[in-house]
Parts: sequence; C-alpha cells; structure tokens
Amino acid sequence: MEAPLASSNQRRDHLPVLTGATSRRRFTRYALFTLLGAFTATSALATVKALYPTKITGFGTKITVGAVAEVKAALATQGYIRNPVGRFYLLPTDRPDAAIAVYWKCKHLGCTVPPPSAEAGGKIECPCHNSWYDGRTGALLKGPATHPLDYMPISIVDGNVVVDTAKVTTRDRFMPGQATPLG
Ligand code: FES
Repeated sequence: MEAPLASSNQRRDHLPVLTGATSRRRFTRYALFTLLGAFTATSALATVKALYPTKITGFGTKITVGAVAEVKAALATQGYIRNPVGRFYLLPTDRPDAAIAVYWKCKHLGCTVPPPSAEAGGKIECPCHNSWYDGRTGALLKGPATHPLDYMPISIVDGNVVVDTAKVTTRDRFMPGQATPLG
C-alpha cells in the first residue's frame, strides 16, 4: 500500500536551512552596496582629476625657450625667436642683452602677425590691415591697431629663459621696464 503524501509543512521541514552568512538576499545587498561604492569612488576621482588637472602644457603655461646663451646668440644673429607653442616672438628690445616676449596676436582684429623681416625693414607688418609694429619691441608704429603688441613676463630659471604665457599684458607704449635683462 502506498504511503500517504506528506503535507506541505512536512516537505518544507526537510529543506536545507540557509544561515545568515549564505543568505541570497544578504549577498545581493552586499554586492549592490559594493558596486555603488566603487561607482561613487570612481566618479569622485574623475571629478577631482577634471577639477585639478596636473599636466597642462602649451599656451597658458610657463614655457622654456632655451638656455640664456643660446637665446642671446639667436637674438643677435636672427633678431627674434619664434615660439609656436607659446604664440610669441622673443625680441631683442633696444637694450643690449635684454629681451621681450610679445604675443603674436594683432591688436586691431586679432590676426596672427609674422615675425620681423628684412623685407619689412625689420618691422612686424600685420598681413590683414597693414598695422606696423617695431620689430625689436612690439611698439605700435602705424594703425589701424591702437596699441603695441601685448607682452608676457620673462624670468631666468636655472640658466634658462622662461616665458609665462598665462600673463599676457596689454600696454599703451613700450617702456624700458618691459624688457628683461638676460644677464
Ligand atoms: S588685424 Fe592686424 S591690422 Fe587689422
């Protein structure tokens, strides 16, 4: 004779009991919190890196032009040094062994001006509307521009000429104090 079917309560009594350590619900909760924590930490790191970038280079930073001796030699022979990264020309000024860094953006409507040339009589001539700037100082010689080319501070660091392209300075005219002695 066949044994009677066990009631549902009796069948449940034979199932294995899950302890707290192996509870599926608890495991899922821990996994979710872990994922959420990892996501939050990654987002926070990305935000900090975006707000505080550590490797800025190019225009807007301090740019090393070269050793003082090399810079002096280049200014003496060529009359200027072109720096495309910093968007400036290093010019010899009207003082011996000094230099000024001028931003190559024309003060009229912002065209890029070329370096001083022999064809232009040593001047800087804007190709757009023909403003003229002094090829040694960036001073304005003829409009329609109304100001000299802006300039940037120069410092000597460990024997190198360094130009701070973050500090583009407007001026009304060339003054001797804008020239930096190269030593
Ligand atoms: S932009 Fe240089 S003269 Fe007009």
